[in-house]
Amino acid sequence: MLRRATIDDAARLFAWRNNVVTRQYARSSEPVDFAKHMNWLAGKLADTASALWVGEVRGVPVAQVRVDIDGGTALLDYAVAPSARRQGLGTAVLRALQREVMLCPADSRPAGILAQVKTDNIASLRALRSSGWVAEGEPVGGFVNLWWMP
Ligand SMILES: CC(C)(COP(=O)(O)OP(=O)(O)OC[C@H]1O[C@@H](n2cnc3c(N)ncnc32)[C@H](O)[C@@H]1OP(=O)(O)O)[C@@H](O)C(=O)NCCC(=O)NCCS
Repeated sequence: MLRRATIDDAARLFAWRNNVVTRQYARSSEPVDFAKHMNWLAGKLADTASALWVGEVRGVPVAQVRVDIDGGTALLDYAVAPSARRQGLGTAVLRALQREVMLCPADSRPAGILAQVKTDNIASLRALRSSGWVAEGEPVGGFVNLWWMP
């Protein structure tokens, strides 16, 4: 279900990224312009500290999931295409990511994957919790930290 993203995914990733609900739950709610998105995507695809996948159902792209290694921490970002939400795909894409991680040799897996989630992002909190992410500490600035340890 997961395949590595390519530059040909730029338009769909841009649409999902600028979706109003995605922006609402992101750290920065400002829409991104396409030129900046293209630069960002080219950078991510070239960055060995990032891995970006597209989730597909019967060959149709429905979601993206990304892990960025930042100062020793693996940070999660994911989103489902607006038209495909509330069908279990957010949860499915997290489980597919977990399978990808578990296929890596133990010594190259991240020690943990951190999701920083807005406290009112109920869909994400439910998807993460049911996939084994566990909240740590109190929310700070409206975001709660949840960890999954491979
Ligand atoms: C968060 C997101 C990925 C969830 O994807 P999804 O495919 O809609 O989620 P699922 O269908 O797997 O639902 C997960 C759970 O949330 C619940 N849920 C989904 N949408 C919901 C909503 N709008 N309100 C309340 N609950 C909701 C589901 O009932 C399910 O609950 P359950 O596990 O108790 O059965 C999707 O809403 C999204 O792309 N949001 C914008 C980007 C975003 O917030 N990304 C996460 C940043 S941390």
